[in-house]
Amino acid sequence: MDSSTSSDLDRLRLLVEDALRGPVDALITERGELQRFGEALRYPVGAGGKRLRPVLLLATVEALDGNLAAGLPAACALELVHTFSLVHDDLPALDDDSIRRGMPTTHVAFGEDVAILVGDGLLALAFRVIAEGRVADAETRLALVHELSIATDGMVRGQYLDLHPVAEPDEAWVRRMCSLKTGCLLEAAIAMGLHIAGADVATTAAYRELGAEIGVAFQIVDDVLDATSTSEELGKTAGADEANDRQSWVRVLGLAEAQDRAERSWLRASGLLDELPGDPTALRAVVETIYRRTS
Ligand code: IPE
Ligand code: IPE
Ligand code: MG
Ligand code: MG
Ligand code: MG
Repeated sequence: MDSSTSSDLDRLRLLVEDALRGPVDALITERGELQRFGEALRYPVGAGGKRLRPVLLLATVEALDGNLAAGLPAACALELVHTFSLVHDDLPALDDDSIRRGMPTTHVAFGEDVAILVGDGLLALAFRVIAEGRVADAETRLALVHELSIATDGMVRGQYLDLHPVAEPDEAWVRRMCSLKTGCLLEAAIAMGLHIAGADVATTAAYRELGAEIGVAFQIVDDVLDATSTSEELGKTAGADEANDRQSWVRVLGLAEAQDRAERSWLRASGLLDELPGDPTALRAVVETIYRRTS
């Protein structure tokens, strides 16, 4: 990755971090008897993470010369929904994981009851952040709420499929499960960016095609890393899919074929990026990171 690539990412990530630490954190802070719950809400958000979804959203806005400030509440909202999905994904009833973002998972740190409520709280907060983000006009905010609610619903359905697979999953089944559990929020990043930038129909179609490609690829890469990396590098438990007997890309296709799918998807995404209207320089950097990441 060259330095212009990482500086584009860092610049957009910094905007997200500042917004999460500033206005979003102000909504989380609690005093008195709720102080401990405020700490629990803040814990998984503050634990870091790559912030790829909000950065993808902002990079889409930037590619189409939109207003980055108007995109920030939506970017934070998306990261809050994603963080909610991780807190619940790690619960004992789901993946039963004890490390996330390099720290003990929320249920390990605060208890399972609190972790369930933290997920609920983050989800609610996400929609509040968009509703109150007056930099965008009311019609755009409604479109953003609509987009994010559809994506969240899809993510939850995908998690259901992951936990309750068909008897003999084939590639088409894994693709559908992943396009729901993981693709929906990544596609929403691009879709929400398009609303903020006020993109026309043709531009929207071209960007959405890229969103669908990278949405599934994100989980292929996640499954490959789960099988090939270490817990230290990932900041979460490596080998979790095999330990939980999950129908991952690696399980259904084998490691080499899964790696090949990711590579072919990168070539396709790269071709789609070349054809996009606007100036997707930062967007290309984010997409490349999604394929080349090691954590
Ligand atoms: C992990 O997402 C969950 C999946 C959808 C595979 P990320 O890899 O983006 O996790 P963070 O946000 O960096 O912690
Ligand atoms: C989870 O997929 C996707 C979500 C909707 C959270 P995984 O279960 O593979 O995510 P990790 O590997 O725990 O981050
Ligand atoms: Mg899972
Ligand atoms: Mg998991
Ligand atoms: Mg995984």
